Amino acid sequence: MVEIAAYAPQHFQGVELLWKQAFPHDAARNAAAATIPTKLKVQPELFLVALEEGRVVGSLMAGFDGYRGWLNRVAVLEDHRRHGVGAALVREAERRLLAMGCQKINLQIRGGNEAVAGFYRRLGYEMEDRVSMGKSTPLDSQERS
Ligand SMILES: CC(C)(COP(=O)(O)OP(=O)(O)OC[C@H]1O[C@@H](n2cnc3c(N)ncnc32)[C@H](O)[C@@H]1OP(=O)(O)O)[C@@H](O)C(=O)NCCC(=O)NCCS
Repeated sequence: MVEIAAYAPQHFQGVELLWKQAFPHDAARNAAAATIPTKLKVQPELFLVALEEGRVVGSLMAGFDGYRGWLNRVAVLEDHRRHGVGAALVREAERRLLAMGCQKINLQIRGGNEAVAGFYRRLGYEMEDRVSMGKSTPLDSQERS
């Protein structure tokens, strides 16, 4: 039985392991130790984990900027995939974003990982005609990603 809950400090190691498995080519700036402390200062209730008997098997970090909702770090342990865990995380994030007044939810898929679009399509997301751009701030000493 998998439950969806807000992240709590005891989930750190599980999330770190999950992200290493799910995002093996991540930039250092995305590491759990670098991102979780800042997320806990901003809408921590939108940082979700999927738990099986207390063990982290999935994650999702969402945010609402007052205009759009965003989904990030959607991940499920390999041996727990295709059992509805990812969908349960997205639905709970959608529920929380809707309650905050969010009208539209966006997400980005990295080049090379386009196959995952099938997952989001099943949940009602559509490809949109957009070009994604980004810029690091002086706090980011890492390579671009
Ligand atoms: C994407 C991911 C989170 C999906 O998690 P999951 O728990 O396996 O997804 P679910 O079991 O809830 O799947 C929901 C639906 O999407 C479908 N689906 C899941 N992964 C899919 C994929 N890679 N391609 C196409 N459809 C997929 C499922 O079959 C299911 O369809 P159904 O409703 O008809 O049964 C998981 O594969 C993952 O962690 N991938 C690596 C990290 C990653 O790339 N994250 C996305 C970053 S943008």
